[in-house]
Amino acid sequence: MFYCRANTKDNKQRILEILKQGELVSGEAISKELGISRNAVWKQVQNLKDLGYEISAETKLGYLLTSVPDFLYPFEIWPHLKTKKLGQAIYWDYELTSTNDKARELARQNALEGTLVLAETQSKGKGRRGRNWESAPAQGIYMSLILRPVAPLAKASPYTFLGAYAVLRFCLLRGLLTKVKWPNDIYVNGKKISGVLLELSATGQDISYLVLGIGLNVNQRSFPVDICATSLFLETDKTCSRNAVLTELLLYLEEGYKRLSQDTTWLIELMKEHSLLLGKEVVVSGGLELEGVAEDIASDGALLIRAKDNELVKVYAGDVSVREKNKVSNK
Ligand code: ATP
Ligand code: BTN
Repeated sequence: MFYCRANTKDNKQRILEILKQGELVSGEAISKELGISRNAVWKQVQNLKDLGYEISAETKLGYLLTSVPDFLYPFEIWPHLKTKKLGQAIYWDYELTSTNDKARELARQNALEGTLVLAETQSKGKGRRGRNWESAPAQGIYMSLILRPVAPLAKASPYTFLGAYAVLRFCLLRGLLTKVKWPNDIYVNGKKISGVLLELSATGQDISYLVLGIGLNVNQRSFPVDICATSLFLETDKTCSRNAVLTELLLYLEEGYKRLSQDTTWLIELMKEHSLLLGKEVVVSGGLELEGVAEDIASDGALLIRAKDNELVKVYAGDVSVREKNKVSNK
């Protein structure tokens, strides 16, 4: 489903609003209020049931909403969303191959800046270099935002950090020991909780659009044994409302995005302050092969590594791992 917040609410949303007032309401009362037939009301109630809302229908008495599904439907998000631009248009599907792929398709069709793509699960959720992103149904947040900054391609890389910034801020506010592993991973207590995948399209030397994909583990109780991952639930022992997490992230993303259009220094500084890599001996692989000490993050977002021969090398892409016991650590 694709919804724009500015558009008039459809009958399904209006019926949902009535039912959310929590009282038993007759089909006749709804049909009068909306100016539609009782049969049309019944059809929309069936629609809502198909979306997972539990609605008891007692003949003569009316309809009662008894349970709301834990899905990120646009009309469940908007009542909590305080942003002006991000998430004002939302494409939601239960399953997508990848929210990034759908967002790219929509961006090519001129979707507005700030359009948000959400899925409850992804069949081909992707990390960098075609790696898989585990997307357990309705447990995590799998989101992609279409951004259209007016900037040259050379200034695109700090936008990866924007995703990390929002997750970092969210986790730090909960007192979690959070680190950013350049360029795109967020770790809590040494385990990966979130990943960011930035994809871009250019017109000449300028950015045409960016797709900022973020995967955040929220309510997962466990992960496949081969990945060293964690979730907000595992770290806090509390089940979180994904809707509340998402609206908070969007607020940070919007605020950060505005600031980024004027200046990137603050974001680079923050990435340095909470870096998992700086000061550590690292190994770079996947293209450039290099060993050295991660010394700094440059103003253009590159990782600066002091190589064994004392040369300072700028790394723009690649896999960087901490040498220590061949394991990533945030200690
Ligand atoms: P790098 O540090 O170089 O980015 P990475 O191993 O983290 O390397 P990425 O491409 O960034 O690789 O992320 C994909 C990897 O993340 C997967 O190979 C897997 O190990 C891990 N992963 C997959 N799904 C999840 C998830 N839901 N939560 C945490 N980690 C995951
Ligand atoms: C990484 O760690 O390499 C990045 C993982 C990014 C995962 C998110 S989930 C939402 C969006 N859709 C994708 O297919 N990937 C990103």
